[in-house]
Amino acid sequence: MTERSVQNSYTGVLQAIYCRQSVRAYAPKQLDHATIQALIEAAVHAPTAMHEEPWAFVIVQNKPLLKRLSDLAKPLFVEELRHRNEQDASHSFDHFTKPDFNIFHGANTLIIICARPLGPFVAADCWLAAENLMLAACAMGLGSCVIGSSVAALNIHEVKVELGIPAEYSVIAPIVVGVPGGETNPTSRKEPRILAWKK
Ligand SMILES: Cc1cc2nc3c(=O)[nH]c(=O)nc-3n(C[C@H](O)[C@H](O)[C@H](O)COP(=O)(O)O)c2cc1C
Repeated sequence: MTERSVQNSYTGVLQAIYCRQSVRAYAPKQLDHATIQALIEAAVHAPTAMHEEPWAFVIVQNKPLLKRLSDLAKPLFVEELRHRNEQDASHSFDHFTKPDFNIFHGANTLIIICARPLGPFVAADCWLAAENLMLAACAMGLGSCVIGSSVAALNIHEVKVELGIPAEYSVIAPIVVGVPGGETNPTSRKEPRILAWKK
């Protein structure tokens, strides 16, 4: 790689980092096999503790199944929030009780990153893979969004059986991907809190 191409690839990575946003509206266009394959290839290039590569992927591109999973997940998630008493004034989860609300935001593709129980870092590995996948999606002009609210439902034994997820695997990171269906409002971040900088 020449110095210029290294510089260009840095620009590309930073562009993807700063342009990625959680997309919550999708066009009806279905992603093809090669696109999904490319996203998964990018995902598995993430760092992995002790080179265990604990990840495995399930792809759901079936709208009625996605709707059924969404309907199953919504009350579970609301219950989870109630249990954790996290429903504070700044986060309204009222929409989860609405029949029309689809937790997958109408996306046609859900990529579920699962982990084999190989060691203490499997969740970290899968989340790093998830970020790779989302940055790759962004670089390919696609939108994505983590759907943490579906994790409890996707880890139900019967659901895992239906999706072909072996019992020993856990669902870690469900991510919807697709062609954005409009503009997404940019989000901002607080200034990073640096606790110490010892020189
Ligand atoms: C672990 C995790 C779980 C998330 N779960 C959901 C979810 O269930 N539904 C959703 O619409 N967004 C979900 N998100 C997306 C966040 O809401 C989003 O990343 C955050 O608001 C910042 O916005 P940005 O991604 O556009 O920068 C999740 C993000 C993470 C990291």
